[in-house]
Amino acid sequence: MRWSDWRKHFEMNRQRPLPEGVERAEEVPEAWRPALAGSLATFQLGEAGEGRIAHEIDRAHLPGIDADYRAALKLFVAEEGRHARILGLMVRGLGGKLLARNWTERLFVFGRRLLGLRLKLMVLLVAEVIGGAFYGLLASRLPEGGLRRGLEQICEDEQHHLDYHGEFFARQGWGVLTRAAWQAAWWSVAMAAMGVVLVDHRRTLRTMGIPLTEAARAFVGLVREAASHLPVFPEREARGAVPAPR
Ligand SMILES: [Fe+2]
Ligand SMILES: [Fe+2]
Repeated sequence: MRWSDWRKHFEMNRQRPLPEGVERAEEVPEAWRPALAGSLATFQLGEAGEGRIAHEIDRAHLPGIDADYRAALKLFVAEEGRHARILGLMVRGLGGKLLARNWTERLFVFGRRLLGLRLKLMVLLVAEVIGGAFYGLLASRLPEGGLRRGLEQICEDEQHHLDYHGEFFARQGWGVLTRAAWQAAWWSVAMAAMGVVLVDHRRTLRTMGIPLTEAARAFVGLVREAASHLPVFPEREARGAVPAPR
């Protein structure tokens, strides 16, 4: 997709009303609610805090980006803000409280501030993988209803975000060595983040009957999918594994 297509994608998404019934927790088994509310509150915090990068991108000169990419990145941040609003409604509906801060969120923020813009975008890509996998796992166990549909919608957005950030890296014009370094960094950061999330949310996973192995498989599947945007050997692109950079 061209960056102008991504911009249109996010502009269209912005027109959507908030999904209905996300605050109605009656359909969720009572025993699940405290753990689920706690997990969603942590994710709510993560969704809410990505504002800085949209301004940094205005000053950045990077290969493969243009005004449409910059506009799309701002719309993407707004879409994450929308996720935060939806998750906030869910948390309150489940009888939970929103958090001011949490150690995993602080870790992510710390990591992002420490790093250069491209590595920050890698950390954002990790967040897409973690969010996409986690929301998908929760939705797979929730009974039919507003909460499940709301999480499915967010999960679908995260899938698009993953492709959007993946395309950014694919267009950096990097050679084999940089790609290999990127892959090494990507797998290290992503696996570390997966470990943190599995530990932090183990109670929710256990309560909802989601085995750690299933959760790990879902995470690794998305980590691999994100990695496929930047194969070490670009000739793979010619075979159609990844859309050619434009
Ligand atoms: Fe999100
Ligand atoms: Fe996202």
